[in-house]
Parts: sequence; C-alpha cells; structure tokens
Amino acid sequence: MHNPAAAWMYANLLRYARGDQFHPPAELPPRVASLASGGGTMSGMADREFIRSLAREHLSRGDATGWFDRLYQHAAGDADALPWADMWPNPHLIAWLDREKIRGDGQTALVVGCGLGDDAEELRARGFDVTAFDISPTAVEWCKKRFPKSSVNFVTADALDPPPDWTGTFDFIFEAYTLQALPAPQRHVAIDCLARLPAPGGQILIVCRGRDASDPEGAIPWPLTLEDLSRFERAGLRRISFEDFVEEAARPPAAEAAGSAEPPARRFRALYRR
Ligand SMILES: C[S@@+](CC[C@H](N)C(=O)[O-])C[C@H]1O[C@@H](n2cnc3c(N)ncnc32)[C@H](O)[C@@H]1O
Repeated sequence: MHNPAAAWMYANLLRYARGDQFHPPAELPPRVASLASGGGTMSGMADREFIRSLAREHLSRGDATGWFDRLYQHAAGDADALPWADMWPNPHLIAWLDREKIRGDGQTALVVGCGLGDDAEELRARGFDVTAFDISPTAVEWCKKRFPKSSVNFVTADALDPPPDWTGTFDFIFEAYTLQALPAPQRHVAIDCLARLPAPGGQILIVCRGRDASDPEGAIPWPLTLEDLSRFERAGLRRISFEDFVEEAARPPAAEAAGSAEPPARRFRALYRR
C-alpha cells in the first residue's frame, strides 16, 4: 500500500476486525479521513512545546490539573490541537478486549480522564453501561456534542476526589494516559482513589507509558514504573496481569513523515482486581 495514511487506516481497521467481535466505527475518524484524503496538515498538529509550557505554568503554582481545561478551551473544537486525541479508541484497549473476549452484558464500566470519549463509546458498543469522566468541563461538553445520542453518562469529575457514591460500584474501569500526566504526589492520590472504585470482583485496566526505576523520570507525560503501579496492590487490589511492550505504529504516518511524531514508546498494560 503506497498511501501511508491509507496503510495506517487499514491497519487500524484490521485491529477492529481482529477477534470475535467486529465493531466498525460509525464513521471514519475525522483525523484519519482527513489524512487519507490528503487533507491533513501539520499546522493542525498539537504544539507539544506550547502544551508543556502551559502545564509548567500551572504546575509551578502547585496546580496539577488546571492546564487540561485550558488546553481543551484553546483547542476550541480542533482535536488536532490535543496530542492524545486520536479520535479512535485506544488500540491497547481494543486488543485486550478482543483477546480476552470481553463482553459488557450490561455490566458497569467507568472511563477515567475520558478525553474526547472514544474509549467510552467503544465500551458502550460492547455492551457496558458506561460512565466516563474528565476533570475538564470543556472535554465533557465536547464528548456530548460528538456523541449526542450516546447512552454514555459523560460527567465532569476529579480522579483525585471522585464522587463518594462511586465507591465499590464498577465492574470494569479503564484508565489510559491520565496517571502519567499527573505529578507523583497527585498520581499517588489518584491511584488510591481509583483503587476504591471497583465492585468486589471488579477490574481496573491501566494503559500507560512505562520505564524502569533506573531510567530518568523525564518530562511530562512521565512514564510510570512497576513500583508506581504496585500502589494499586498496596491499596488492596490484586494484580492479574502485567504486559511491558513497545507500541507498534500508533501515530498517523503523516506525522511520522513530518518528523512531528514521537518515537515508538514503551507501554505497560496492567490489570488489577478487587
Ligand atoms: C493525556 S489525556 C488522555 C485522555 C484519554 N484518556 C485518551 O487516552 O485519549 C489525560 C486526560 O485526563 C484528564 N484529567 C487529568 N487529570 C484528571 C483528573 N484529576 N481527573 C479526571 N480527569 C483528569 C484530562 O483532562 C485529559 O482529558
């Protein structure tokens, strides 16, 4: 296949088709469609230096989360301004759901730091009764606009102080890339809070950047160590599985071509159970 955007799209469709269940998206993700038709431009790609400086500005005054809503506001409806918004469900969630042959069957699911809502919609399509939350009211409104007929309950909430009535209620919780965007003290609080949310026998699946404890911590997003994740066990959960891998080609090839994509990243995918 000579068109790299089409190859990327094809690879993602294959991911969808893998396994017993096939959930074609209602429409092509706009970013993919735009790239495939040659309409994608690098000018719309997220300005990572601007984002880091926005985060630094808030972090330097002890505000670990205020920059998210500012970034969503700054994006003003343009998902290209958000480095994490692929407008497509997380491929490591899809692969895991397919491999483990997970069906929602009306079980409750919670999506943490849901961003623009694709993971929540994926879980809804697989039969879960989904609540999805984000600290950014702008992101939550964006989700509601993107999926106006969705049964997903999109709400504004804080992983550092979740609603008390969520304690012990969810059958499945999915968290991708939020913990790594929080400095260590807030990350610890978030893990302790999230660990309280699964129902007895409920599970929490984490996808994040990974590093060895001997690697430098680096800059935001901070890759997590296995020791970071073991906090879930100290909070009373049992680790069921842990995978350590380097992500295949996860970014649109147009970004690779322009040199604006990040290099392949090491990922952890870990499952914990109450
Ligand atoms: C790096 S983005 C990842 C978004 C989404 N999970 C994805 O993979 O596309 C982190 C998300 O978590 C949200 N977030 C950050 N801190 C949060 C908190 N304390 N509680 C809830 N959401 C939070 C941000 O607004 C942002 O949407």
